[in-house]
This record gives sequence, C-alpha cells and structure tokens, in this order.
Amino acid sequence: MIMTLLQKMGYGGCWRVLVLGVVLWWSVIISSAGSVGSHSLGSRTRHFKFQVEYMYWSPDCVDGLVIGINGRFPGPTIRVRAGDTVSVEVTNKLDTEGVVIHWHGIRQLGTPWADGTASISQCAINPGESFVYRFNADKAGTYMYHGHYGMQRSGGLYGSLIVETEEEEEEEEEKEPFHYDGEFNLLLSDWWHQTPHEQQVGLSSNPFRWVGEPQALLINGRGQYNCSLAAKFSNSSAAQCKFTGREQCAPYILRVLPNKTYRLRVSSVTALASLNLAIGGHKMTVVEADGNYVQPFTTDDMDIYSGESYSVLFTTDQDPSTNYWVSIGVRGRLPKTPPALTILHYATTSISNLPPLPPPVPPLWNNHTHSKLFSNKVQALAGSPSPPATSHRRILLLNTQNYINGYIRWALNNVSLLLPETPYLGSIRYRLTKAFEKRAPPENFPSEYDITMPAKNQNSSYGNGVYTLRSNSTVDVILQNANALAANTSELHPWHLHGHYFWVLGYGEGKFREEDEKGFNLKNPPLKNTVVVFPYGWTALRFVADNPGVWAFHCHIEPHLHMGMGVVFAEGVRRLGKIPKQGLGCGLTGKMLMDNDNNRD
Ligand code: C2O
Ligand code: CU
Repeated sequence: MIMTLLQKMGYGGCWRVLVLGVVLWWSVIISSAGSVGSHSLGSRTRHFKFQVEYMYWSPDCVDGLVIGINGRFPGPTIRVRAGDTVSVEVTNKLDTEGVVIHWHGIRQLGTPWADGTASISQCAINPGESFVYRFNADKAGTYMYHGHYGMQRSGGLYGSLIVETEEEEEEEEEKEPFHYDGEFNLLLSDWWHQTPHEQQVGLSSNPFRWVGEPQALLINGRGQYNCSLAAKFSNSSAAQCKFTGREQCAPYILRVLPNKTYRLRVSSVTALASLNLAIGGHKMTVVEADGNYVQPFTTDDMDIYSGESYSVLFTTDQDPSTNYWVSIGVRGRLPKTPPALTILHYATTSISNLPPLPPPVPPLWNNHTHSKLFSNKVQALAGSPSPPATSHRRILLLNTQNYINGYIRWALNNVSLLLPETPYLGSIRYRLTKAFEKRAPPENFPSEYDITMPAKNQNSSYGNGVYTLRSNSTVDVILQNANALAANTSELHPWHLHGHYFWVLGYGEGKFREEDEKGFNLKNPPLKNTVVVFPYGWTALRFVADNPGVWAFHCHIEPHLHMGMGVVFAEGVRRLGKIPKQGLGCGLTGKMLMDNDNNRD
C-alpha cells in the first residue's frame, strides 16, 4: 500500500522511499493509537474563548441587535485539524438570558455533555457564567456552530467550524480525494429586522403571528436589504447596493486567479430559508456533504438546506477580463427576499467592474423536481462505509401542523415537543424519573391518515417522552411529510440528527408503503447529518445507535423547532460514567447536586 502511495506521488529515489516509508509507518501507529485512546500522539488541544453578547451591527445595511461573539458577527471561524481536541470556554454576557452553543456536525463521541443543547445535553449557561465545551474534532469536514436555546440562532448566534485533514508529514500524499489551489468559506443565513424575542412570542401567541419571510439573506453575515439587483438588473441600481465599500454589510468578495481550482465550503444556518447557490458562468463539482466525501458530480447550481454543508470545487476557466456574480436565492417558499449577491473577482480585472452578465437566476421556488434531482445526485464516494443490510427497528414520523388548545404547533405522530426543565442527559443518567414523561412517543401513525389533507382531528398534544434506542442497534427512521393546516400546502423540512451520521436510503412521493423498502439504496447512500423531506413525500434514513448520549432529532427550521418539531433519542446513557457537574446545575439534577453536598456537610 505504501508502494502505491509512493508511486502515485512519483517518488523514485530509493532513499526517499525508505525515509518516507518510516514516516508513513509512524503515522499509522499514531492514528491507530488515536482511535483507541482519547488522544493520538500527534493531536493537540486547541483553546478558544467565546464571549457571547448583544451588540449593534448592520448585517444587511440596517442597524440592529445581533448576538455577537468576541465583538464580531458572525462568530469567529474555528479551524482545527482532525484529531484535535477543541476546548471552547463560552462566557454568557447576554445579561438576562441563558445561552448554549451546539457544534453542528460534530458527533461528540464520548462527550455527549458537550453537544450544547439546552434541556437535552445541559442546563443553559446563566448570565455571567461560563461553560467549557471540550470535544474531539474527529473527522475532517465543513461544520458550523450555533445557539440551541430559544431562538438565539435567529438572532445571529452562529459561526463556522472547519476541521482540516490531519497534519501532513512533509511530502506525504494529500489525504483528500481531490485537489485545489485555494479555498473560500461561505456561511449562509437569513436575517429579520424583528428580534428573535418578538418572533418567539409571536409564534407562541393566539392568534398566531408568523415570522414572515426574512428581510435579507446573508453570506458570511453580510447582505443587503432591498438591493434588488437580481430582479431588475442594471448598473444604476448597483450603486444603491454596496458592493465594494467597507460597510459591515459589504459583500465578502471571492478573489481568484485565472486557471486555478478553488474549494468552496458552503454551510447554511438559516432560520427558515432553503437556498440555491450558483456562480455565473462557472460549473461546480460537489465533493463533500455534511463532513462526508461524496461521489463527485458537476452541477450549475446547488440546493442547500438549513443545517447542511457542502464543499464544491470550481475552476476559474472563464474570461479573466470580467467579474462574475455569485447568487444565492430562496427555494421551497414563495421568495419575498431578493437573492444574496457577491462577486467572483478575477484578479486580472478591477473590482469596480461589476459583472457584465446578470446574476444567475435561481430555479423557480416550487420546482421541486429540480431539487429532487439534486438531492438524488448526492451519493457516497466509492469505498465509503455502507449501511447494515437490515435494521432492528423502524420509527415512522408523521410531520403535521396542528392546533393544540388554539395554538398552532408542529407535531410528530401527533406529539409536539415541549422540552423539560431538567436536561435529559442528567435525568436519565441519574434515574430522576419524574423529570419527563415515562411513556415513549408513538412509533408510527394510523395507516388511514390522509397526508393530502389538513389534520382533521385535533387530538395532538404536547409531550417530552424519549425514544430509547438499544445500544448498537440499527434504526430506520421514515420521515413522512403531510399537508399543513392550510389547504394544498406541504412544506420542506430539513431534519438534523445530533450525535450521528445517517445513511440517506431514499426519497419518495406520497405515503410510504411497505414495498418502498425494496427500493432503498443500500449500495452507495450518502452519510449525512441533515436531510430534507419534500412536500407530500417521505425520506428514509438509517443509523447505528453507537454513541451513548441523548440526541435531538429535529427540523432545522428555527420557528418549526420552537413550535415542537422534534423528537429525542436516548441510547446507552447508563453506560456513561460520571457526567461533568458543570452542565447539571438546574432542575432536578441541580437539586440532586445540592442534596449530595448537604449530605456531606
Ligand atoms: Cu444545527 Cu439541533 O441543530
Ligand atoms: Cu420544519
């Protein structure tokens, strides 16, 4: 194997083969040590300090409050290497509310208390207090972090988390199955002028107040309110859109050299919007999805749902005397928000030369066929781990919008999630059985349910029961979409699983039928942590419950989660040793800690 590696690299000299061979052997030893022990020899701990606070900022050229980190919006990009231990000390400077930070896409193997989910993995950090998140960045990939308490993600609490491949020994072969000369990172989000508090209260009010469509789409926290360049293209309106200034809202420009290949990392933390990205005149080759390599495929535009991340490669092989638009538009909902724009700037021309060609037009918002084609193209890179051939358990989750006592909620199998005061991880580990409902939520829904009609009987209820998964069992989840409360309406929902990757076995139309299982893709299904369920359709996924902890599985649309669109999985919790006290100081676990202390006195 070493010989083939060396041949690929074109090393001929005998002495070099020898030296390199030793280096390679050494790294094999290091990495196998890493998978057994908690730290590999070559890995390090990377320390970060985050101060989370409200501040004035102008993300879309309109001044307002954002939740910033260390005086910046979005939060700083964390860039580490695979195998590193990441230690982030988060200090809550929000004054009057709690905070947590979730590391989206990191599985938290062996550290479920560092997942950063309020009421699930930990107590929210009180104002003035700090919490240290310590976890292993075990897998190279493009990830993000964001608030996971109330609707703080909508308020701007997010940033990028990039895990590069392990440190390369000199002259060693590249560890990634593709090559590039430079890279960019785009963190996509959507922005409202209404504060998350107002949004949150509106969603929990009767009569219901919907948050509406975002005022702007942001690329790396930068967007332009009312810049309608994409809709009516002309160079005169371009002046009103600030493309080259130094404003907080001035776009993040992609500066490139001709005839190079760039890696574009793209991740979405939108609260609501599903997006589509295109670079005028340039094709993209998708190579990574949610931290896993995919079989490369080329596309003119790509869909990206909230909670997803991709890497694409593009080559700057177009006319180098002009610039090009990068455009990001809304999918799945009638767009009232103009596309976000930035510029692919060839160094061979001036930045003040706005692109002569109009920005690429995103596919029609309700062209779901286009989206399904894209989703189905995402397949595992040849040689990726394949799923177990069968599963031990199948959980069907019917996604509905319902009324509960006049309040509009989202429900799964008629149960709408309302999180408990005591985080599950502590209450399950220490058997505090009163902390949440004993009864597990339903595994399926009545077979006669008509998914093409609004929910008729309004018997859905609030709930906080958990699905307990047997350790190391293989679980299938079928997400079944249905009609929302309004007639002829079914929405997209991007579902995200904490603590795991799952294989996406397939998407289907209408109601899932037993025979659909025959069509599951067991050959090359992609491993992801977020997957969309299309309107009136179903999505099937499979994962192995091999990570002791309590894990959220929910729609990544922030208002939907707030309205109850999620479930909770618990697996192997009793196998965990002690849980660090730091995150237990609330509810019944807080009381338990106090009682223990008093008994000692
Ligand atoms: Cu990025 Cu539970 O979410
Ligand atoms: Cu949703």
